Amino acid sequence: MQNRIHYPALLDKITDAKTAAQHIQDGTNLFISGFTSGYPKLIPKELVRRAKTGEQFKINLFAGASTGESVDGILAEAGLVAWRRPYMSDRTMRRQINEGRIHFKDDHLSMLSGQVRAGNWGEVDVAIVEALAITEAGHLIPTMSVGNTPSYVRKAKKIIIEICPEPEDLYGIHDIFIPEDPPYRMPIPIYRTSDRIGKPFIEMDPNRVVGIVFSNEEDCCAVFTEPDEVSQQIALQILDFVRHEIRQGRLPASLPWQSGVGDVANAVLSGFLTDDFYHNIDIYSEVLQDSVLDLIDMGKVRYASGSAMTLSHKARIRFFNELYRYKEKVVLRPVEISNSPEVIRRLGIVAINTAIEVDIYGHVNSTHVMGSQLMNGIGGSGDFLRNGAISFIVTPSTAKDGKISAIVPMVSHVDHSEHSVAIIVTEFGLVDTRSLTPRQVAEQVIKKCAHPDYRDLLWDYYQRALKNPGGHEPHILGEVFRLHERFMATGDMRPQGDAAGS
Ligand code: COA
Repeated sequence: MQNRIHYPALLDKITDAKTAAQHIQDGTNLFISGFTSGYPKLIPKELVRRAKTGEQFKINLFAGASTGESVDGILAEAGLVAWRRPYMSDRTMRRQINEGRIHFKDDHLSMLSGQVRAGNWGEVDVAIVEALAITEAGHLIPTMSVGNTPSYVRKAKKIIIEICPEPEDLYGIHDIFIPEDPPYRMPIPIYRTSDRIGKPFIEMDPNRVVGIVFSNEEDCCAVFTEPDEVSQQIALQILDFVRHEIRQGRLPASLPWQSGVGDVANAVLSGFLTDDFYHNIDIYSEVLQDSVLDLIDMGKVRYASGSAMTLSHKARIRFFNELYRYKEKVVLRPVEISNSPEVIRRLGIVAINTAIEVDIYGHVNSTHVMGSQLMNGIGGSGDFLRNGAISFIVTPSTAKDGKISAIVPMVSHVDHSEHSVAIIVTEFGLVDTRSLTPRQVAEQVIKKCAHPDYRDLLWDYYQRALKNPGGHEPHILGEVFRLHERFMATGDMRPQGDAAGS
């Protein structure tokens, strides 16, 4: 793979993982590429090997977003992580964060690169970047994700590169643009999903490269599951609602779509496949998954923009076999551009994101189970929900086999307030909150979105709150978390033996 290094002066830096990883010591601030895909593979394994020989050290780990088992999982398992930012979704790491063994701070993904450039996250001691190749001018061509890598590379004191076996033909899919920092920031000149405003490579100072290793390892492929019935019901309601709004002239037909992580997001995109109304679709999102390829194959996508592509094994093969065709329709950008509030507002995105729980007035918890236990993080949900032209927050009406209601009197943790959320959807119904008072929202959310097992409980609570203390958003403060408390005590939010009791 030496022929992937088109800048001869860097050939001297070719080394092995063990030597390269010597630049990472106790307390190193380690900034890595990766945003569900495109993360380094060899150096994390080498760090784990060192830990197994008894070496005592911990690193502060900063990525683009989740990196899965092969980075977050193994580093956490080896006890090597002191700090982790931002979004992650690995179970081992999650457990350690919740035990207080790993420090974790959640951030809106659109904001990180700017904060790193401003120095708010400390020195960028070492950046490790997975790359396809190094250009003639000594710049980096990234792989299946961009994330925060351009800013990490710009600020890094030392850079380690893992050259990976993805086809070099991927060159050209990326559009790398770093905006000016305040107070001199100019508008980000994206006016259509397909606009390209930057360069197809990440600018790098080759003098800071301390090691280049060759990797034969691919990303752990995403597991693609067919959307279940609940997700399909939610997706159908969204597609019907948007169609209606377009027909009524309240929404332009050409707004781009964003869909977050999880089953419902996939179900919405899959729903486009069989819906004749939708065609020439623009996708301006964060992570592009298998369903985007299906839509391109059907000729339904005009253009798809994201910060990463995360594909199942089958879809990867398809993608690389016909790269020339997909490359015409796809662009991968830094996450501060894919999630830029400015661009999202300008394009007018239809945003769909999943909640852990939603309260009767429309406040949303996306991150903390029972108010305390971190799930993954806020990711880009705040970037898109707050700034989309129309924002859907979706959730199955219950979790854990019906033992938890996702509609509650008051959310046990707040990520998005009622002011960012337009439409609330569960498999039972959809409430457009935009023209409703908080009291009207509560009535409709309980009647339309809550699971039948919980409607009477919620209605009873709301009616009593209306009487005393009343107010603009009535709440009985001593009771707002009774459902959560009951679950913590009994394992079920429903009163035992009587689903409708109080
Ligand atoms: N109380 C307790 N647990 C709940 C819950 C609730 N109200 N709602 C969901 N869960 C649990 C599920 O039971 C499941 O647990 P498991 O992993 O043990 O099976 C887990 O949360 C994931 O839920 P699932 O129904 O599988 O949905 P998902 O994969 O779509 O994930 C979120 C849902 C909210 C966790 C996920 O969408 C997320 O992290 N969102 C925040 C970030 C985001 O929106 N990013 C997109 C921006 S582009």
